[in-house]
Amino acid sequence: MMIKVGALLTFLLILVTASQAQQRPALITNIEGRHTMDLNGRWQTIIDQYETGYYDYRYQSSTDGYFKNAKPKSPSDLIEYDFDASEQLNVPGDWNSQDQRLLFYEGTVWYKKSFDYQKKDRTRLFVYFGAANYLADVYLNGQKLGRHEGGFTPFNFEITNLVREKDNFLIVKVDNKRRRDAVPTLNTDWWNYGGLTRDVNLVEVPDTFIEDYFLQLKKGSTNEIAGWVKLNGAAGSKVVTVEIPEANVKQTVTTDANGYAPVSFKARLNLWSPENPKLYSVKVSTDVDSVGDRIGFRSIETRGTDILLNGKPIFLRGICIHEESPLRGGRAFSKDDARMLLTWAKELGSNFVRLAHYPHNEHMTRLADEMGIMVWSEIPVYWTVLWDNPDTFVNAKNQLDENITRDKNKASVILWSVANETPVSEARLKFLRGLVDHARSLDPTRLLTAANERHYADPNTQLIDDPLGEYLDVLGCNEYVGWYDGLPEKADRLQWKINYNKPLIISEFGGDALFGNHGDKGVRWTEEYQKNLYEHQLAMLKKIPSLRGMTPWILTDFRSPRRPLPRIQDFYNRKGLISSRGERKQAFYTLQNFYRGLIKEGK
Ligand code: GCU
Repeated sequence: MMIKVGALLTFLLILVTASQAQQRPALITNIEGRHTMDLNGRWQTIIDQYETGYYDYRYQSSTDGYFKNAKPKSPSDLIEYDFDASEQLNVPGDWNSQDQRLLFYEGTVWYKKSFDYQKKDRTRLFVYFGAANYLADVYLNGQKLGRHEGGFTPFNFEITNLVREKDNFLIVKVDNKRRRDAVPTLNTDWWNYGGLTRDVNLVEVPDTFIEDYFLQLKKGSTNEIAGWVKLNGAAGSKVVTVEIPEANVKQTVTTDANGYAPVSFKARLNLWSPENPKLYSVKVSTDVDSVGDRIGFRSIETRGTDILLNGKPIFLRGICIHEESPLRGGRAFSKDDARMLLTWAKELGSNFVRLAHYPHNEHMTRLADEMGIMVWSEIPVYWTVLWDNPDTFVNAKNQLDENITRDKNKASVILWSVANETPVSEARLKFLRGLVDHARSLDPTRLLTAANERHYADPNTQLIDDPLGEYLDVLGCNEYVGWYDGLPEKADRLQWKINYNKPLIISEFGGDALFGNHGDKGVRWTEEYQKNLYEHQLAMLKKIPSLRGMTPWILTDFRSPRRPLPRIQDFYNRKGLISSRGERKQAFYTLQNFYRGLIKEGK
């Protein structure tokens, strides 16, 4: 009897957690195609390490916190904060690289932005955040709009009934404290940049508007577009028109009472590929709303150990990238940041990038669409999150949801990754299978993967048999032979045994080198050591029959709190092929030559 009550309580807990998650506001897609006003620029800020603006001295959440933006009404009034007299920070931007005092800061910073707004009839207004790391509590004119958890995905709130003509104050409490139950969890190998790290926009839409749409080629087809449209607003059933003028497409569908309608039609299309990154102007419209987009159409599948792009086998010449602007030394957020990183990847000879270990800003995937670079997109289920915690699962699922919602119409994105270097266990398998199933339910067109690990079957044989592989389309494997595992020459005697007849991507390998540090190839931290490591790695990997891609770790050196070695690391992971000042290391050319060789072979 007692057990039954216990089980019932756990089940009720999961239900409540899930239903709370389900109350998340619907996410509007393709902000670039909407009528927006950006709130970027200088924001007033208050550094609040003790969360005095949120809790009272009994650590109970206060109803009179900094979100009230209170001002003394008389000289005797006691108000102990004043946004308008406080320091400012740039938005978008992390706080760590803007203020030396905040470089290592983990805690709360309050942001305030004032704005006026001309109200319009039959018009709704949303505030849209590209991302905020990590936990954001959002208020308008003293009213709570909601909370968002997760530092790398977009979220929005409706403010139609709260906004006024003059002196609106939008206040965001951003807290980047790490937590054991969070996603990611306490330890990562990247800098925990905090703040309003991406664009903030006001988005104006009609009463009933086009909230979301999915337009991609049906799985396995190169001439049938399948997807759906979703309206948001009272008048549910409406006629929606999907137009692709260049492909002579003009399709109308009628939504159901919930504003939803499936879409499917044939079209003669010039398919998207790295050699031909063709994007079509697409318009989705109703009698009151219209959204323009630029979408590429390509099919991506696997057949045995092959990855097929538009029906043809491909090899993914890749590189891993962190969302950091090396020259500025902060979170990357702008189109220019994205163009610089992707241009450097192209210079390497890459047709593919692994955006590690979390969803990067939308400029990255939009530019990858334009530049013809295929993308591995990942959520930060990194190392050892709490597999048995229902909240942790819902959090990871939400981040996956938001990532897929934002980028599901991007031709460049070919792989959704649900995890990086997670330890094999039943609880972990259940957790990650849940994410894989969820991704497939949202997007039946793309491939699912994860960056897993391998182990030794015997001293000379590396074995890939992670049980998660069963549920993935493409196997990802990180290995550090020559850096954490022996010396570079060890690669020469190693075999690979893979327990799945599936394509393999070596999603990480590499070693640290400080640019300009030279010496014998056996000396760690030298460019010669890194170059030597790459030479032995590439020779080993080339021999793996099912290898269909690689993304060495990593394009540029990046900040990490786990790397204190003085005069070498200085809180940078130095596995970049390019230094934090943009200098190419010797191994950059080793990989570039290798990729040029593959290109010559037609790979
Ligand atoms: C790991 C991990 C990376 C990390 C790298 C390293 O494999 O996935 O996030 O930076 O190894 O140790 O350099």
